[in-house]
Amino acid sequence: MKARDRLRIAVQKSGRLSDPAFDLLERCGLSFERGSDRLFCFSESEPVDLLLVRDDDIPALLAQGACDLGIVGRNKLNEFSSGMIEPPRELRALGFGACRLAIAVPRELDCDDVQALQDLRIATSHPKLLARWLEEREVSATVVTLSGSVEIAPRLGTADAVCDLVQSGATLAANRLREVETVLQSTAVLAAPAIVPEGARGELLALLLARLDSATHPRAARLLMLRSARDCLNSILRLLPPASRTSVLDVVGQPGQVMLQAWCAGDLGWRKLEEIKRAGARELFVLPVEKALA
Ligand code: PRP
Ligand code: ZN
Repeated sequence: MKARDRLRIAVQKSGRLSDPAFDLLERCGLSFERGSDRLFCFSESEPVDLLLVRDDDIPALLAQGACDLGIVGRNKLNEFSSGMIEPPRELRALGFGACRLAIAVPRELDCDDVQALQDLRIATSHPKLLARWLEEREVSATVVTLSGSVEIAPRLGTADAVCDLVQSGATLAANRLREVETVLQSTAVLAAPAIVPEGARGELLALLLARLDSATHPRAARLLMLRSARDCLNSILRLLPPASRTSVLDVVGQPGQVMLQAWCAGDLGWRKLEEIKRAGARELFVLPVEKALA
């Protein structure tokens, strides 16, 4: 059988993570036509295909090696991976989709610490994570597994408490539930199969990761450019934010003058610039960094 040479990325078809995931992939130079009912999208700029699926299915697609990358909530990834020998790996936290998996009880229920959960029935769609959390705290409660609509279980009488995702807290409030414990801090993550692909797909994967790091991390980084007399250079360098990456260039036809270019992640506010100017700099520019490859 011919090895697959296009890279496959699984993304939630519709839901909270869909739009930010598409936005991130676009910032990595991948653009896709997004149809309403298409499960497969092709990128024309790179040999990459996108698979649009339910978020719950993404960890299994990675574990089977059917996809090379997936954007999914850490909660779904960890729930799936719990107890596995070679689970899919979390490669990066992506900085969106922050929420928590939390235990909540009806407002009127007297429950102020972990031990008060003893002997309760707790409804959740994350049974493995909840069971492990309870076991670590030596609480014996009954885990009631539900695939959705967890928050109404106490009203229906099928559970005493819930363990569900909380983002704004609106769902809990609407169901008169009160949050009591956090089981997991979650966020959208980039995940991949345990086995790293070789050959062209492996190379493409490494390239995309580098683009992704540039697209996510150095948002705060900027490029500082200025001109000064070489004599002032040391005092100027001392004022730059720590760990700035600098290059100094001679100015043709103006002996003793240099251009400084620095990639800085720290403070470059007006006061800092004024201080640098007082140290002898002229023609200072601060530019945003849109893309970077170190
Ligand atoms: C989650 C969770 C709650 C809601 C909490 O469901 O199950 O219902 O979000 O968010 P809030 O605190 O902002 O109200 P989600 O919409 O992710 O759907 P799913 O769990 O059915 O995939
Ligand atoms: Zn879901």
